[in-house]
Amino acid sequence: MSTSKNPTTSCSTRTGAAKALSASTIALHGPLDKRRPTGPLITPIVQSTTYTQRAVGECDGPTYSRVGNPTVDQLEAVLGALEDAPPSVCFGTGLAAETALFLTLLRAGDHAVIADAIYGGTVRLFRQVLSELGISATFVDSSDIAQIAAAVTPRTKLVFIETPANPTLKLTDIQGVARITKAAGVTLIVDNTFLTPALQRPLDLGADVTVYSTTKHIEGHSTSLGGAVTSRDEKLIERLRWIRKCTGNIQAPFNAFLTIQGLKTLPLRLKEQSRNAQRIAEWLASHPQIETVYYPGLKDFPQREIAERQHIGGLHGGVISFEIKGGTPAGIKLLNSAKLCRLVEHVGSVETLLTHPASMTHADVPREQRERVGLTDGLIRLSVGIEDPADIIADLEQAIAAAAQETANSTETIATGPIATGSKGGVACATR
Ligand SMILES: Cc1ncc(COP(=O)(O)O)c(C=O)c1O
Repeated sequence: MSTSKNPTTSCSTRTGAAKALSASTIALHGPLDKRRPTGPLITPIVQSTTYTQRAVGECDGPTYSRVGNPTVDQLEAVLGALEDAPPSVCFGTGLAAETALFLTLLRAGDHAVIADAIYGGTVRLFRQVLSELGISATFVDSSDIAQIAAAVTPRTKLVFIETPANPTLKLTDIQGVARITKAAGVTLIVDNTFLTPALQRPLDLGADVTVYSTTKHIEGHSTSLGGAVTSRDEKLIERLRWIRKCTGNIQAPFNAFLTIQGLKTLPLRLKEQSRNAQRIAEWLASHPQIETVYYPGLKDFPQREIAERQHIGGLHGGVISFEIKGGTPAGIKLLNSAKLCRLVEHVGSVETLLTHPASMTHADVPREQRERVGLTDGLIRLSVGIEDPADIIADLEQAIAAAAQETANSTETIATGPIATGSKGGVACATR
């Protein structure tokens, strides 16, 4: 590890500026003031559901693992320190974290302004669950911050954005939105799952809360589900812990252990994944069979200025999306032809992953909203891993060639209706 501090990835711990540690150091050791001089190097997994009490009303730590658990506490300390915040609050999944956060901030009659290009599960939570509880939402194009300002009403309690957005990679100017939310007195939440605190620090840019699916890059090895919320607002964090206790959705200790282990290489992985993604995005952009490529690191990316200002160290993360010539049938042929790149509903793992958002992660987003944000049936999401990029390119090359061959051979009329889900001869996949 280099001893010189990269100013772009350096963040101070709550122990004060003199002890400021880099993100790569915090990811390994956690906040300095929590370090113990002796004891196991690796955080132990405390599986105990409950804790012996010295006498009635006398105990030193947690009493029951739904409320607090030492392994989960350690993960929370590391995640909070990465954003110069008090310990985060960790949940069983990313969606459990979002649900608890919305239950903390919203009541019947309240209103939320939501970016229209976000993870499909968050859209479903608002459209199909929270709407039933009397909470309304307006979905806006958050790349145009004037639309956010116009959507805020006296009933608005929060603005929720995701940048880069899943899967279109559309960016939102966090500082611009924070000016609007501060003036209106509403809470700004940023889903920072794609870049993580290693590549983007929304709380430094004026956001009030960050939310994560730790299932993705933070854990990074596809071995555990998890979610986290981070904020410098101690009252909000306290209330969120109370909601978690009442609703019972704390992260399991074993998953917290795996997440702590994965987190140790987060800055290293994201650096490598970003470099690989940059090379692959440039290769895709120059490929004659590829129609469009979305990646914030490309010179002609429409929101390049925001990417340069907002992302740390000139790195833009591991996720690319693109469309192949020949539309949806060619896209599906490509997805079905890749061998090294795995077809899954997931991002952020060390392996390179391919996803078909329209039939998988965003299947529950209304077609009209999908089309408005550019999430076409032919869009392919590529989550670049840490393999040798030349091997990833070779696999994509053969899959693109197979797709082009199929398009050239096809004499059938291409169907334009909703795409079929499920597998030929197999069991239909349940969307998540
Ligand atoms: C950006 C983003 N936020 C939140 C979630 C939800 O996370 P989880 O699957 O851990 O519930 C996902 C899942 O894919 C996601 O991509």
